[in-house]
Amino acid sequence: MQFSTRTTPPGRARADCALVPVLAGKELTAGGREIDAVHGGRLAKMIRSGDLPAKAGSTLLVQLDGHLPRALLVSMGEAREATARAFTDAVRGALQAAGQLAADEALSLLHEAPVTGRDTEWKLRAQVLTGREIAYRFETLKTKRETRPVRPKRVVLPVSAGGSFRAAVAQATAIANGVDMARELGLKAEVLDVRQMQALKMGALLSVARGSEQPPKLIVLRYQGAGAKQPPIALVGKGITFDTGGISLKPAAEMDEMKFDMCGAASVLGAMRAVAELKLKLNLVVVVPTTENMPGGRATKPGDIVASMSGQTVEILNTDAEGRLILCDALTYVQRFKPSTVIDVATLTGACVIALGHHRSGLFSPSDALATELLEAGNEIGDGCWRMPLDEEYQEQLKSPFADMANIGGRPAGSVTAACFLSRFAKGYDWAHLDIAGTAWKSGTNKGATGRPVPLLANFLLARARG
Ligand code: BES
Ligand code: MN
Ligand code: ZN
Repeated sequence: MQFSTRTTPPGRARADCALVPVLAGKELTAGGREIDAVHGGRLAKMIRSGDLPAKAGSTLLVQLDGHLPRALLVSMGEAREATARAFTDAVRGALQAAGQLAADEALSLLHEAPVTGRDTEWKLRAQVLTGREIAYRFETLKTKRETRPVRPKRVVLPVSAGGSFRAAVAQATAIANGVDMARELGLKAEVLDVRQMQALKMGALLSVARGSEQPPKLIVLRYQGAGAKQPPIALVGKGITFDTGGISLKPAAEMDEMKFDMCGAASVLGAMRAVAELKLKLNLVVVVPTTENMPGGRATKPGDIVASMSGQTVEILNTDAEGRLILCDALTYVQRFKPSTVIDVATLTGACVIALGHHRSGLFSPSDALATELLEAGNEIGDGCWRMPLDEEYQEQLKSPFADMANIGGRPAGSVTAACFLSRFAKGYDWAHLDIAGTAWKSGTNKGATGRPVPLLANFLLARARG
């Protein structure tokens, strides 16, 4: 689904179908009235019939003629001004209904509808992101195409001249490309192998890989969009390609979903793609420690003590708490890039799913300023997170009689103690941790990766690049 802006007035535009917002169950917007006038009042008449339900996203088809053979009336909800949520629902409903028609090109006027606290640019971006979410298909591994081709193929967004409308659409398209890539993943990268990790003394990362036949890798991507002297931002993503739990084996039910334990890695790669496509004026480093977590004759055992790259020792009490072990060495490794800010992203704890469910990711940071930036970047683009505590008191749960720390902190506040563990390695830079265990994928028949938090990360980086 391709989105573009155009400055032709809606009344004169050609398209297979127009998406026309209806406010409070009865009112048309300026562009809608233009189309209505050209077509002899047929839209207004259809609205008066009362057949369009008030629920945001409901649609009603109107047959027209000439350069515009049909229009879909799209309800924006009962209020005259939609909430951000109602607007996205309306976009989804409209594009899905348009997808059922033989319409290749849609003309969307939905951004003419008022949305509380949001400007036109936001409404344009929301249409691109929602449309691309609907259009996404993962078919690389199917031998024959099963799903119908994406419709509409093109969505034209009429806008007035001036404003940063085109840029908003380009931005959202780049973000959507990043989301798609994170959902599907395929990128050539520079990688460190086991021998290099041994030389760097990455004992924690290597301990997770021991049970697997597959060698671990450390992927490092660098992007330079600003002067070499400007310190980079670093993104670190958990890349467990399959998490069986290791010797602390997970139960069988839903273990298949642990192939998604690399979604943190996928999302930082997706964010990198969006940044590169937008040629943002900043420097970015992406580091992905990646390995399987498998049981086996060589696997790490509960009770084993390992030395991390930082020098700190860790008593591994549960081999299923492996994410923090690969991340801690990556957090030490990024220090060499002298980053100003480091954000790690990980499907880290089941406890985070219990705490926040599937809507907001867990956000942990000792820095109020960085936490606020990330919260706002997420809220603005509909990929929210929620700040969780990191108080010193929780650190005590990680005490070990034999090593500098244990790798688990018991059942209470499991996602907090996991973050506390990471905080001991995140030294020398501003740091935040995103636990995406509840938001990175969907279960059930619709199961698959969501591409989150690529929108949050990309939006945060866009704001940083603006300075
Ligand atoms: N990858 C899992 C976390 C996870 C679980 C994500 C379920 C999404 C859904 C992680 O490696 C893990 O196993 N964490 C353990 C930690 C525990 C042993 C302290 C967990 O959450 O049970
Ligand atoms: Mn695990
Ligand atoms: Zn895991």
